[in-house]
Amino acid sequence: MVRYQDYSLLGHNTFGISAKAKQYIEYSSEAELADIIREMPSEEILLHIGGGSNLLFTSDFEGTVLHSAIQGIEIVDEDENAVLVRVGAGMVWDEFVAYAVQKGWGGVENLSLIPGEVGASAVQNIGAYGVEAKDVITVVEAVELRSGVKRIFGNAECNYAYRQSIFKNALKGAYAITYVTYRLSKHPVLNLSYGGLSKCNPLPATIAEVRQTIIDTRNAKLPDPKVLGNAGSFFMNPVVPREVFERIQKDYPDMPFYDVPDGVKIPAGWMIDQCGWKGKHLGRAGVHDKQALVLVNLGGATSDEIITLCETICRDVQAKFGVSIHPEVNFI
Ligand code: EPU
Repeated sequence: MVRYQDYSLLGHNTFGISAKAKQYIEYSSEAELADIIREMPSEEILLHIGGGSNLLFTSDFEGTVLHSAIQGIEIVDEDENAVLVRVGAGMVWDEFVAYAVQKGWGGVENLSLIPGEVGASAVQNIGAYGVEAKDVITVVEAVELRSGVKRIFGNAECNYAYRQSIFKNALKGAYAITYVTYRLSKHPVLNLSYGGLSKCNPLPATIAEVRQTIIDTRNAKLPDPKVLGNAGSFFMNPVVPREVFERIQKDYPDMPFYDVPDGVKIPAGWMIDQCGWKGKHLGRAGVHDKQALVLVNLGGATSDEIITLCETICRDVQAKFGVSIHPEVNFI
């Protein structure tokens, strides 16, 4: 276990915001987490983080930041078709994806290179290229931070939806995820449904080729946080009623869209681009020049500068399209 007081969170948020935590504790096992919970004063404010790739610290954190370093990949069951793998919440997500692809197990290759850790995949229901974590998660093991009681959540109990789960809503901040179990296929069926992937020539033919194609696409579009601070997509893609979509489509016949069960999903990045924001900035907070959905720290930006840019963009999108967009990033 490692424990620091008055600790800089600069290395724990990919936006590169300077903020401090009163205390930071990292644990490597459920037993260490149990010790931490037993000793923690009941009034202490707690924040559990993962890789910090979806966070915006808006001020110093006057409490304890917890981080899991629980590692390991273990096969818990298998048959001729599938394998169930239980993975430590502190494992780097893409290391798990690389391992699965190298073993020839399908299901997570479309989620290649998503920053962050395994625990966050279950909180955030990470998604890309037509696949979401919920499609492969079977079980989430979690410990209630106040009581130390462990609970096993089946997939259905996690209330998964687009970038949503029970851990972001009803149980927000209440549990630390310790292990996630995924069901991977021994006979992978490639999912090339997503626009960009289906247009590749030649089409990827194996999960290793899908992984490489996605790595190349992400590297071309998304800024490397080590070079330019960012938290991936800053906004969620809004789902609008069909009438609203049809009204906008009259003026913008080339607008990209995806039909979803409760309406039509419009890419927020496209709307922000149409508003002329791509590659522009307000102060030291900018809009990425290759993907307008991503806000970037041009160097030393404060959270206030990023919030001002976020609010200005939301206002402009509302004024131009009559659609509200909302941050995907968690403001702390
Ligand atoms: N577009 C523009 N201009 C832009 C950005 C996008 O015209 O500046 C258009 C694109 O041409 C395309 C459409 O909008 O027609 C969608 O763009 P893209 O394929 O880049 O995907 P996205 O909807 O903007 C989502 C996820 C990404 C994920 C990609 C690929 C959300 C909030 N974002 O982005 O996830 O990688 O699809 O599946 O759902 C993340 O969550 O951090 C993230 C990067």
